[in-house]
Amino acid sequence: MNEVIELLLNHRSVRRFKDITLSEEQTEAIISAAQAASTSSNVQAYTIIGVTDPGKRQVLAGLAGNQSYVEHTGLFLVFCADLSRLKEATEQQGETFHQNTESFVVATVDAALAAQNAAIAAESLGLGICYIGGIRNKPQEVSELLELPELVYPVFGLTIGVPDQENALRPRLPQHTVYHENSYKREQSRQGVAEYDEAMERYYKERTQGRTITNWSKGIADKYRQPGRAHLRPFLENRGFRLE
Ligand SMILES: Cc1cc2nc3c(=O)[nH]c(=O)nc-3n(C[C@H](O)[C@H](O)[C@H](O)COP(=O)(O)O)c2cc1C
Repeated sequence: MNEVIELLLNHRSVRRFKDITLSEEQTEAIISAAQAASTSSNVQAYTIIGVTDPGKRQVLAGLAGNQSYVEHTGLFLVFCADLSRLKEATEQQGETFHQNTESFVVATVDAALAAQNAAIAAESLGLGICYIGGIRNKPQEVSELLELPELVYPVFGLTIGVPDQENALRPRLPQHTVYHENSYKREQSRQGVAEYDEAMERYYKERTQGRTITNWSKGIADKYRQPGRAHLRPFLENRGFRLE
């Protein structure tokens, strides 16, 4: 193995940070790394809002479901999928801008790839990170707070700072569950889930001194027995995205 892979394998989300603001050099390095990510046809369909204002961070923490590590952190980044720049460039060339589900996926994937590069860069500097999908609880309020124009939406936040806690690694599905050679192997996937359920039940039991008896499948069922964030589609359409 090498140092990069070791860093990747050592990832765990951090949810408590020291009260230390990131330096300009750190922020610049992290954003440069984000920009270096692959991007569909070089469209670079994202904008990153760095939220340094403590008042705005406090509001965002509330909007994200009272996640205090949005407020008490070194830097809070909001990764936005952004078609507005592409529309302007197209129209400046005298053409009509056409968008659909494909361009929505392109912008969302671009934002996610940039974010993951930022996350890895931060971790390589000894910092901790946690993604904050919670900002999609209140996407309209987040968009207004950050003055996002039409055709821009907040995909998720990324909180970055000096860790003030030591977390255990969260085990992943066995590799054969998610990696299939040459064709999709449903049985292999099912077996992996069964193994993982057993392992995760032990993991939760140990972490909670026997108080939590659950596993991965139960957690998934809990999450998906009702639709998640059903407000998202009307919100996106309202922001000018055409999901057709
Ligand atoms: C897009 C995305 C959104 C997430 N949103 C939140 C969030 O709002 N709050 C939180 O505490 N963790 C959030 N997480 C972190 C995940 O819960 C975490 O990555 C996962 O449980 C695996 O744990 P690990 O990162 O420690 O390995 C998010 C992760 C991703 C990728």
